[in-house]
Amino acid sequence: MSKFLITGGCGFIGSNYLHYVVNKYPKDDFVCIDSLTYAGNYNNIKDLEEKENFHFVYGDITNRELIEQLFDKEKFDYVINFAAESHVDNSIKNPFVFADTNIKGTLTLMDMAKKYGIKRFHQVSTDEVYGDLPLDRPDLKFHEDTPLHTSSPYSSSKASADLFVMAYHRTFGLPVTISRCSNNYGAYQFPEKLIPVVISKALKNEPIPVYGKGENVRDWIHVNDHNIGVDLIVRNGKDGEIYNLGGHSERTNLEVVKTILRQMNKPESLITYVTDRPGHDLRYAIDSSKVEKELNWHLTHNFEDGIKETVDWYLHNQEWINNILSGEYQKDNDQVRK
Ligand SMILES: NC(=O)c1ccc[n+]([C@@H]2O[C@H](COP(=O)([O-])OP(=O)(O)OC[C@H]3O[C@@H](n4cnc5c(N)ncnc54)[C@H](O)[C@@H]3O)[C@@H](O)[C@H]2O)c1
Repeated sequence: MSKFLITGGCGFIGSNYLHYVVNKYPKDDFVCIDSLTYAGNYNNIKDLEEKENFHFVYGDITNRELIEQLFDKEKFDYVINFAAESHVDNSIKNPFVFADTNIKGTLTLMDMAKKYGIKRFHQVSTDEVYGDLPLDRPDLKFHEDTPLHTSSPYSSSKASADLFVMAYHRTFGLPVTISRCSNNYGAYQFPEKLIPVVISKALKNEPIPVYGKGENVRDWIHVNDHNIGVDLIVRNGKDGEIYNLGGHSERTNLEVVKTILRQMNKPESLITYVTDRPGHDLRYAIDSSKVEKELNWHLTHNFEDGIKETVDWYLHNQEWINNILSGEYQKDNDQVRK
């Protein structure tokens, strides 16, 4: 039996991860800590309350005293750090909270991992740390040794955290791994990100904002494939190694929007082009051959089927989106904040 600390488990990827591992490993124990920022939604994991191998702690990963008490009490074997400020647009408006959570929060967790001893600290990072690639060079992809070259305060904070993670490995011998994944899609994604925004606006026949000409390319991966990769890396990856995870599904933003509209039988006339995001990265493309070869990780979803399943999920869970859009979810969060 192993004990896991999962941070940020009320967000999009962390909540999908918890559903996967709490059910898959009934003999392991999972503790989720989340500070329930606007992006955290306790309803995402509420159904796990009844599981004996799961419990939730309301708290902030930058709160050193609380994190120390938690490590002292629980004696974790593994820490998986999903908690982050994750929205690039917010990082342009207020970079400071990105430095606090993404850098200081990661450092606080690693300091306690160093003090109390753990088998593995895993940092959930992003392909955005590599910067972007030109649109006219489809042969180029990000490899694990591609230099860090960030564009936004978000990606800069994630890259800084990655550098601290590698420094804690080299300087203090902390057993660490890092995964750098491309853009995720799937259930429970906060309706500020492209795919849930398109679905929720299309449902109400509202204009769908697309940055610039919609030409920016992202490499889309189903959230479950990301999480299968994280689980493999945590359990079987090598200390001090970085692993890229990508979806082999490069699509322009416009292609993604049109695919969703087609599936929902909505007209393309809903698309409204808006002023481009400052510093907007052009293209991301990931080479995942290392994790495929070394850990036998393979995609289980292709984009077409995965996006269809995702649109269906949002259509069947409209109450979930409406709860967020109306702010009602914060009342549910208040119940666990007490
Ligand atoms: N979404 C993507 O496409 C993507 C791609 C690659 C990597 N990532 C990385 O994966 C991780 C999860 O991303 P996501 O999309 O699920 O993000 P999210 O914004 O949906 O969720 C983040 C969660 O972290 C919590 N949190 C924020 N600050 C906290 C703090 N100080 N203390 C405790 N909890 C805190 C929030 O309440 C929320 O539940 C992030 O580290 C992100 O950088 C995301």
